[in-house]
Amino acid sequence: MKPARSFASDNNATVHPEILEAISAANRGHTVGYGNDEYTDSAVRRFREHFGADIEVFFVFNGTAANCLSLKALTESYHAVICPESAHIYTDECGAPERFTGCKLIPLPARDGKLTVEMVRGAYHGIGDQHHVQPRVISITQASETGTVYKPSDIRALARFAHEREMFLHVDGARIANAAASLGQTLRQATRDLGVDVLSFGGTKNGAMGAEAVVFFDRKLARDFLYRRKQGMQLASKMRFISAQFEALLTNDLWLRNARHANRMARLLEKEIRKIPQVKIVYPVEANGVFVKIPHRAIARLQKRYFFYVWDENESVVRWMCSFDTTEEDVKQFVKFVAEIVGG
Ligand SMILES: Cc1ncc(COP(=O)(O)O)c(C=O)c1O
Repeated sequence: MKPARSFASDNNATVHPEILEAISAANRGHTVGYGNDEYTDSAVRRFREHFGADIEVFFVFNGTAANCLSLKALTESYHAVICPESAHIYTDECGAPERFTGCKLIPLPARDGKLTVEMVRGAYHGIGDQHHVQPRVISITQASETGTVYKPSDIRALARFAHEREMFLHVDGARIANAAASLGQTLRQATRDLGVDVLSFGGTKNGAMGAEAVVFFDRKLARDFLYRRKQGMQLASKMRFISAQFEALLTNDLWLRNARHANRMARLLEKEIRKIPQVKIVYPVEANGVFVKIPHRAIARLQKRYFFYVWDENESVVRWMCSFDTTEEDVKQFVKFVAEIVGG
């Protein structure tokens, strides 16, 4: 029997019951489409409570779109976006950011998934040279693709570097809730207060269903975004059902409860996995992901019962993610199975 929950991805999780209830509660009567409705007004107010009254926020269906549209709002096609080589925008979006913006992405090797000012400085050249793309955006992922979390001072330094050069700092926050929970920060402290310009705000991995947002901390940058979103095919006609999800997520700290729980399960998984001598944790566990080097022969056998992704085939590193619905029992059963397989 396959277990009910795997450790493959926080995208494989269910929808949080409070979010389903919110969708159900919004499922009454007719209301105007395309965001001109009271549910959307209310969800936007909720975002403004968290991030400040002067932000602009736009809801979209998925994280790839949030990233592409964010970058599009900040660039012309002759600009470049500097990012870590593990960035979702570089590795996992099928070239959509390049296609959509026309920009070159400049990927930098970053072992733990995090950029530093020194790395970015090395890639910042060709300024004013008509033969060279012009770096315009630094894009980082918080929490990173390898489950690590930038320190607030790291983000502040990147923002300062960007702003001193007429560049912008974009954050792919597919897991911004996990990062903020890990750092003990509010959503605003983890983003806007550090100098972030535009945030792809993730809802889906934190218990929602196809609900992501683009948050602008400088209203001027949001100019014409309504048209970009529509052209980008991300304007929901029945917007109220996305809005209702954000309303639930940003009320009564649901975002924080979910993220804290997922992070706690990842730490438990780390603690238990460390007891197995044949496996090695390869990145610090700072959010809801655990990256593990395991004997190569064990991978296929483990996957027969638990589906998960191989992160680095050559290094035999796999990725195990926890979500808001992972239980302690799930972790214990999984670790028991891992111990059996790698020990056997
Ligand atoms: C870091 C990161 N950014 C963005 C996304 C969003 O991708 P999607 O377009 O699948 O919602 C993901 C999803 O896996 C992700 O891990």
